[in-house]
Amino acid sequence: MQNILLFLVSLTITPYSQAYGSKPTREQVCCLALHGLFPAEVNFQGSGTYTNETHKYFSAANFVQPACVFLPATAAHVSYAVQLFNKVKCNFAIRSGGHLPVPGSNGRNGAVLLATSKLNHVKFKGSVAKIGPGNTWIDVYRKTDLIGQVVPDGRVGSVGVGGLVLGGGVSFQQSDYGFACDNVVNFQVVTADGKIRNANAISNPDLFWALKGGGNRFGIVTSFDMKMYPLGRIYGGELTYQYSSLPEVLAQVDKYHGEDRDSKSSIIVNVIDANDLGYGQFVEVVLYYGKPVSSPPPVFQPFFGIPGLIANTVTTKPFSVLVPADKQGLPPGVLSHTWRSVTYQPSAAVNERVSDIFQEEVKSFREERGTDLQPGIFTLAYEPYSTGLTAASQRTGGNALGLDARKGPLMLALLTYSWTNQTESALRTAAVKKSVERMKAASLAAGKHIDWIYLNAAAPDQLPYQSYGKGNFERLRRVRDRYDPKGVFSKLQSGGFPL
Ligand SMILES: Cc1cc2nc3c(=O)[nH]c(=O)nc-3n(C[C@H](O)[C@H](O)[C@H](O)COP(=O)(O)OP(=O)(O)OC[C@H]3O[C@@H](n4cnc5c(N)ncnc54)[C@H](O)[C@@H]3O)c2cc1C
Ligand SMILES: *[C@@H]1O[C@H](CO)[C@@H](O)[C@H](O)[C@H]1NC(C)=O
Ligand SMILES: *[C@@H]1O[C@H](CO)[C@@H](O)[C@H](O)[C@H]1NC(C)=O
Repeated sequence: MQNILLFLVSLTITPYSQAYGSKPTREQVCCLALHGLFPAEVNFQGSGTYTNETHKYFSAANFVQPACVFLPATAAHVSYAVQLFNKVKCNFAIRSGGHLPVPGSNGRNGAVLLATSKLNHVKFKGSVAKIGPGNTWIDVYRKTDLIGQVVPDGRVGSVGVGGLVLGGGVSFQQSDYGFACDNVVNFQVVTADGKIRNANAISNPDLFWALKGGGNRFGIVTSFDMKMYPLGRIYGGELTYQYSSLPEVLAQVDKYHGEDRDSKSSIIVNVIDANDLGYGQFVEVVLYYGKPVSSPPPVFQPFFGIPGLIANTVTTKPFSVLVPADKQGLPPGVLSHTWRSVTYQPSAAVNERVSDIFQEEVKSFREERGTDLQPGIFTLAYEPYSTGLTAASQRTGGNALGLDARKGPLMLALLTYSWTNQTESALRTAAVKKSVERMKAASLAAGKHIDWIYLNAAAPDQLPYQSYGKGNFERLRRVRDRYDPKGVFSKLQSGGFPL
C-alpha cells in the first residue's frame, strides 16, 4: 500500500503541478494522489461537483474552498485516503450533512474535503437499517415510511446522518428509545491506521461506546447499523402563536415537561424574531405524537386552547411529511448561523428568565447596530428532554454523553442568530455568547443549572467532552489514544471539539 501510494504521488505531481502552481501544498499532493487512485471520486475547483459540494452546508458561513473534494464511494476508498493523509500529513475535514454551524468543523480552505455524499446506502435487514453517512434524515424517513418503520433520529429532514448520530441525536421518539446513538448496533468505521473495523457490543466495544456521542475524534464512520421500530402515520405539525402568547405557551411547556409525559409525545418550541427579514415575530410549537390519532391527545389539548393561535398545521400524516427538508421555507445555505446552548432542570422561572434575556438582548443588539443593522433572524428554541431520553442508554451498554447519571428530565435552550451579510459574523457570534452566558447565570442563580454541553448544539468555544463527566472524558481520551495514537483525527483533521 505505502509503496503504491508513494509511486502514485511522484507520478501525479509533475503533470498536475501546473494546475496548482509550481510547488503544491501537502493537501494538493494528497488530492493528486487520490485522483491517481480514484479519478472519478476527486473533484477540483472549476467542476460542477466541486461547486455543489462546497456549498452543501446549513450555514453559509461554512462554505469552503478546499484543495479538492474527495467523494469516497466505498469504505475501502476511505481507508486509502486515511493512510494517505497519515503518510503525507495533509489536513482534511469530514462532512456528512454539513449542518454543524461551526466554521471549520466540516471543511477548511486549502484542506482536503472528504464528503460522504456517495456513501448513501439505506438497506434493511430484519429490524436493522444499514445507513450510510451520505444520507440526510429525509432520505432515510422516506424509505422507512414505506415499510412502516422508523429509526429514531433528526427532527429536521435536511440534517445529515453522520454528525447527528456521532454527537448523540435527539429525536421525536426520544422517550421510548433514547438518543439516536443508543440505537446503533454496529458502526463500520475506518480508524487512523486505515483499518476498516466494526464497533459493536462484541467487537471493539470501547470504540463502540466512544462513538456514541464522541463525534469525529475516533475515525470516519462509513455505515451505521441502527435498530428500527414500527411506526405508521403520526399526528403532528406546527402551532403558530402571536409573539404576545409566549408567557402562556411557556407556562404550558413547563406543565408538559414536569409531568410524567406520554412517551409517544414530543415537542419543540421556537421563539422567532424575523422582523428584519420581513417575516415578523411569532412563537411556534412543533408537536409530534407517534400514533395515527385524528384529534389532539390529552397531553396536547391545552396547547390548542392558548389564545393567540394564528396557524395550525397539525394533522395525521406520514412521518416523512412532518420533517420537511427546508423548515420555515428557508433552505440550508441561504443564511449564516451561529448558535450556543444552555441546559437546566425544568423550571418555569428559568424558562421565563431565558425568554426575557432573549428579548432584551435582541433589542439591545438592534439598538447598538442602529442604521447599520443587516437583515437576519433571532431564534430561541426550547427543547424539553424527557427522562426516557437520558435513561435509555443504560439498556444498550451506555454512551459517552454522561446524562444517564443525571436524573430526571432537562431543558436545552438553544439560541441561534442568523444573518445574510458576512460582515456581521463576528458581532452576532459574540452577541449569542453574551446572551447565553446571561441565561447560564440565571439558571445557576435559580439552582437549576446542569453543566452539560450538547456537542450537536455547541458553539466553537464550548467544551462538550469535558462536560460529559470526568470519568467519561478520561475514558474518551483513553479510547482515542488506543485507536489513534498519533492523533490523525485530532491534529490532521480540522474541526471537532478538543478532547
Ligand atoms: C436545522 C437543524 C436541525 C437540527 N435538528 C436536530 C435534531 O432534531 N436532533 C439533534 O440531535 N440535532 C439536531 N441538529 C443538530 C445536528 O445534530 C448537528 O448539527 C450535527 O452535527 C449535524 O450533522 P451533519 O452530518 O449534518 O453535520 P456535519 O457538519 O456534516 O457533521 C458534524 C460533525 O460530525 C463529523 N462527521 C460527520 N460525519 C462523520 C462521519 N461519517 N465520520 C466521522 N465524523 C463525521 C464532522 O466532521 C463534523 O465535525 C440540527 C441542526 C440543524 C442545523
Ligand atoms: C449541481 O447542483 C445543481 C442544482 O441542484 C444541479 O442542477 C446540477 O446538476 C449539479 N451539478 C453537478 C455536477 O452535480
Ligand atoms: C454588508 O454590511 C456592510 C457593513 O455594514 C455594508 O457596507 C454592505 O453594504 C453590506 N452588504 C450588503 C450586500 O448589504
